[in-house]
Amino acid sequence: MSSESLQERRAHWDGRYRSGQTPWDTGITPPEVQAFWEEQPEPAARTYALDIGCGTGLNTLFLARQGLCAIGFDLSGQALRLALQRRQSISRQERIGSKGNSVFVQADVSRLPVDGLGAVYALDIGCLHSLPDELRPAYAEGVHRALKGGGHFHLYVFDRSDSDGPGARGMREGEVARLFDDKLEIMSEEIGVSSNAASRPSRWFLLRKAFRAS
Ligand SMILES: C[S@@+](CC[C@H](N)C(=O)[O-])C[C@H]1O[C@@H](n2cnc3c(N)ncnc32)[C@H](O)[C@@H]1O
Repeated sequence: MSSESLQERRAHWDGRYRSGQTPWDTGITPPEVQAFWEEQPEPAARTYALDIGCGTGLNTLFLARQGLCAIGFDLSGQALRLALQRRQSISRQERIGSKGNSVFVQADVSRLPVDGLGAVYALDIGCLHSLPDELRPAYAEGVHRALKGGGHFHLYVFDRSDSDGPGARGMREGEVARLFDDKLEIMSEEIGVSSNAASRPSRWFLLRKAFRAS
């Protein structure tokens, strides 16, 4: 995938959504994300959260229901169209909770357009691990710049082994730690449990930005 242009990668993802080849689109916010938010205090008004590579927006809308101003980013216009349809098809109360909101933005997440936003939370389920290797450092920089001190980054990735070959999806052992080395601290790392038998070995990371400004 690494030699593909941005337009080719967009066309790839648009094609997946158009044809319905989206096994990740389970309709269920992962229990890991639900459990994280069950433990958080109610967010203050205008508290921002990002859903990076939001697909059809299920988890962006989940974050809005937690009372957050949730911004979903995706490269695929087709995915965002489905996200807007999903938002429209649910009732207003279900959609936004008491003070939350949701916005969908078409953007390349290796150039996240939200420097200095001060988000308390960023979620990435299956996007970073699909980026070409050479774009991953810029992605990490963007997440770091978007979060406030103490903000969390919740990340789900496939494992990648040496036999997977160049351009394969997934993250090599230790890659997450190296990528975010001087930016975010890894608070936890857990093996992913999937209900999908065809799914690959995977893991969940919870990272946090230090409180000191940088
Ligand atoms: C495996 S899907 C996961 C979607 C969503 N997080 C979910 O769990 O349903 C990966 C998503 O990342 C998006 N994506 C891939 N590369 C991207 C990029 N460079 N910028 C923005 N989105 C990207 C794809 O369009 C796709 O919607």
